[in-house]
Parts: sequence; C-alpha cells; structure tokens
Amino acid sequence: MRKLIKDILITTIPGLEDVAAEDIQGILKYGKCLLSPYGLRGRVLIRDVKEFDLSKILNVKSIERVIFLLGTTRVGKDKNSLRNIYEYCKEIAFEEFVTPHTRIGVVSQREGEHEYTSLDIAKVVGQAVIDRIIEVYGIRPPVDLEYPDITIYAEVIGDVFIIGIDRTGPKPLHDREYRRFLHPSSLRPTIAYSLVKLSGAKNGELILDPMCGGGTILIEAALQLPRAKLYGMDINPNFVKGAFMNVKAAGVSDRVILKVGDARNLDREFHGFEFDRIITDPPYGIRMRPRGLKRLYERFLQSSLNILKDDGTLTLITIQSKLTLRLAKKLGYEVLHKRTIYQGGLYSHIIVLRKP
Ligand SMILES: C[S@@+](CC[C@H](N)C(=O)[O-])C[C@H]1O[C@@H](n2cnc3c(N)ncnc32)[C@H](O)[C@@H]1O
Repeated sequence: MRKLIKDILITTIPGLEDVAAEDIQGILKYGKCLLSPYGLRGRVLIRDVKEFDLSKILNVKSIERVIFLLGTTRVGKDKNSLRNIYEYCKEIAFEEFVTPHTRIGVVSQREGEHEYTSLDIAKVVGQAVIDRIIEVYGIRPPVDLEYPDITIYAEVIGDVFIIGIDRTGPKPLHDREYRRFLHPSSLRPTIAYSLVKLSGAKNGELILDPMCGGGTILIEAALQLPRAKLYGMDINPNFVKGAFMNVKAAGVSDRVILKVGDARNLDREFHGFEFDRIITDPPYGIRMRPRGLKRLYERFLQSSLNILKDDGTLTLITIQSKLTLRLAKKLGYEVLHKRTIYQGGLYSHIIVLRKP
C-alpha cells in the first residue's frame, strides 16, 4: 500500500477547510495541505506525505474522514460514465493491499446531477476491484459491507471522481463518544470545535455558552483548552439535564458549570461576571415568530455587553447574519471575523464580534 499512497484526502465542513488544514499541518513533519483540491469544498489534500502517524491525524477534531488517495479523474453525468469509472479503477494496483482473502467493502458518495446513483458507483468500483484481484491471483476476494478489512472510498462530486481507502475507522470523526443526549438541533462537534478556535479563546479563560442545548460547544472548548473554565445555560431544563449527561461523559464536569436561565437577561443571570468569551449557537428562528427572534437576538447581544470583559469577544453561528450584523453595528460591536459554512443543507454564518 505504501508505494501507492502519496496523498491523503481529508473531509471536513465546507467553509472550514483552513481550520482543518492548520490543525493537520501542525502535526505533520512532511506534506503540504491544499485547500479545496479539484475545486471541491469541504476537502483538504495532504500532498507528498512521507511519514505520518495515522492515530495523530485521526485525533484532529476539525476533520471527518481520512482517505488514502488512490486516484482522481474527470467523469461525465450520463450512465456511460460508470463504464469509465470501472475502467479507471481496474487499472489501479489493488493487489498491493488486497489479498484474495481480504474482506472488501465499498462506501460511496455523490453530489451534483448525474444519471447514476451512489449505489451504482459502489457497484462498479467493487466489481473493478474484484475483477482486478481475480486477474492477478485467480481467486475472488470476499465482499463484506458490514465488517470489511478494507473500505474502498469512492465519490463523484460534480465531474470529479475520487477513489481511495477510507482509514477513518467504523464511524466518521464527528461522531463523538460523549454524545449521550442528542439535542434536536445539536451542532456538529467539528463545527463547535472550530467555533472555539475561531473565537480566539485561550487556555485559562472564562467562557460562556448562554444557549448551550446539549453542551457541544462547552465540551469541545473544555477538551481543546484544558485550563479554561466554562459556564453553560439554557432556558429549557431538559436540555440542561442532557448537557450535564454529555459533559459528564466527556470527563469535563469539573470545569463546566450549568444552569437554567434566560439569555435575554444575561446581566441578571451572570451579575458581576466578566467573561473573556461568549460562544454560542442561538436558535435560527425556524420555529419562532420573527418578533420573538429579533427580541432574543437584540436582548442577548445587548446584555452580553454587561458581562463581557473589555475587548472580550462574542462568537456565534447563525443563519440570521443580517439581523446579527445590524444589531451588532447598532450596539457598537466591532466585527472581527465573518465566514459562511455549509451544514445540513443550509448556509450558516460564523461571526466574531468584539466588545467596544
Ligand atoms: C440551536 S440550539 C443549541 C444546540 C447546541 N449548540 C447543541 O449542540 O446541542 C439553541 C438553544 O437555545 C435555547 N434557547 C432559546 N431561547 C433561549 C433563551 N432565551 N435563553 C437561553 N436559551 C435559549 C434553546 O432551548 C436551544 O437549546
């Protein structure tokens, strides 16, 4: 396998490629990260990897899958393209890492408009691997989609076909072990981790998530910053209970304090506090009346000013960027950072504000 692997493809959230690349570059001796290779958002390519410790890569909190890249080519939209995919894959020296007894699994993804499905891609790729091994060894390797020894990863995004070996393990890396309680609008932990990074939070700081839901941001912050002290609050007592379960499962309950309360009155809820950072994922307003949502954002942003240190920052992820930026301007916040990410079929905005 070593002979074939020069490049590693990492998947992450579209819009957070630079966060993932910075984390990976920090642990690599060799290799250079290329953001959005072949024009693909949510992908980072590590080029010319010579020496690396896979377990260290798998520990990076901003990434979702780790693929040892075997090849890429352009493909069309029509059904005939499946034949091209088959022929392309059949030329790959799978015998370097598949023996006639290796149990093979294929996972596939597809984005864009095509006359074929992701299942069609998986079928032709699997067939190409099997035919190649039969040709080389004269024996058909077993297929095991549930417990494979090796997982072949194939995807078509637009007109790009990618083939590799998925070394992520049984679950994508955003699937964190501490998730005992699943909040109905829980934030993906990779995004929560990145929010904390983009907020500029440092070790030893005092951090608040006043609309914490199941506690994802608090936990990712506590794991990232082992000397930070964290406070979390939610208006719904059941969510606070759920957050407590998650915080406990993550082993950070000694540094995270949770309470039930209202983010519209932060000056009353946290009277006398001076937080370095507020990092939060407020409701997007899908199930709220527009006036209620506007009032929530307005009072949250206003009352945050009374509990933030001078120069403290407020970081939030929302689809309500216009409303947030308008209110921030009115209240005198300085906009330090703004970016758009794509998650769950929605474009969301990460905004970092500094208290004036
Ligand atoms: C998008 S969810 C947060 C999800 C969380 N980031 C997670 O990963 O589980 C927004 C949360 O804000 C809470 N919320 C809504 N209005 C609030 C208010 N006035 N004060 C405090 N929390 C509020 C909701 O109960 C909900 O749990």
